[in-house]
Amino acid sequence: MEYRRLGDSGLLVSGVGLGTNNFAGRLQDEAARAVLNEALELGVTFIDTADIYGRRSEEGLGTSENQLGRLLAGRRQNVILATKFGHPMSESVYERGASRGWIVRAAEASLRRLRTDYIDLYQIHVPDPQTPIAETLSALDDLVRAGKVRWIGHSNFAAWQMADADWSARTHHLSRPVSAQMHYNLLVREIEAEVIPACHRFGLGIIPYFPLESGFLTGKYRPAREVKGRLAESARAGEILTDANFQRLERLERFAVERKHTLLDLAFGWLLSQPIVGSVIASASTPDQVKANVAAAEWRLSPAEMYEVAGL
Ligand SMILES: NC(=O)c1ccc[n+]([C@@H]2O[C@H](COP(=O)([O-])OP(=O)(O)OC[C@H]3O[C@@H](n4cnc5c(N)ncnc54)[C@H](OP(=O)(O)O)[C@@H]3O)[C@@H](O)[C@H]2O)c1
Repeated sequence: MEYRRLGDSGLLVSGVGLGTNNFAGRLQDEAARAVLNEALELGVTFIDTADIYGRRSEEGLGTSENQLGRLLAGRRQNVILATKFGHPMSESVYERGASRGWIVRAAEASLRRLRTDYIDLYQIHVPDPQTPIAETLSALDDLVRAGKVRWIGHSNFAAWQMADADWSARTHHLSRPVSAQMHYNLLVREIEAEVIPACHRFGLGIIPYFPLESGFLTGKYRPAREVKGRLAESARAGEILTDANFQRLERLERFAVERKHTLLDLAFGWLLSQPIVGSVIASASTPDQVKANVAAAEWRLSPAEMYEVAGL
């Protein structure tokens, strides 16, 4: 396993991470434990969750964090735990967003559910247009100073919002975000125009989410084949399983196979060949998927190969 610095911070994350938005949803305890154990066994240290993940239970949301906290008992020091706040946790306008009031409550609740006294990377899940970024950063900085959070990051920010956050943090001498979690993979590359240059400028490491486009980039979905999997059941199926995407997939697969690699190798290797990428946080349904993903992460493409892939 390769360990990489996240942005210009001192935080080392495993190149292959584990996304857990299927924990306490599709994966109940035994299945989640098997996936987590395999990941830790193979050297994965970076685990990404969020307060919003999991099924709504009687106690409300947070079931995914809750399950992860239970499964990690006794092993906390071996992982870099990343979570997020900001999506609505209830109907209440006070239980969402990035205001000081909600950040304090959200962090306490995540710490309790995760059964830990610190969060390694605390991420703003989505921009909150109603809260001044200086207020958000100041509340996060307080958590850092109190030892409850180690590093901070954001997700789904536009490039101008990244600039705004960086400027505000520097101006007010607050902890600076070190990472940007963004939708990025071989097929979805919108962030290359504005966001990636901003990440370079502001020392942000990129954590690509949906790195396999919900399983599509494993190559298991084919035009005339019925496949069981989360993508087939998801609302995004119609948008992803299109003729144009199948044609692109074929070109990408041909490129990989000509170099004695698989499509999965290309999905991971292409992301990890970019030094700005910190950890590729695919989720997995089984230990075998974790094994395949870790093995797929070894290929580093040459600049000429990266250029060729860009045109496919
Ligand atoms: N910041 C944000 O706004 C945001 C948004 C979305 C997600 N995320 C984060 O990103 C993480 C990853 O996203 P994601 O899981 O939705 O998408 P993904 O990583 O693109 O797809 C993962 C899914 O693909 C399938 N898969 C994984 N490895 C495989 C393999 N080797 N062979 C065959 N199938 C395989 C599994 O589903 P099946 O077995 O059911 O096919 C798995 O759940 C999440 O867990 C979450 O932490 C963040």
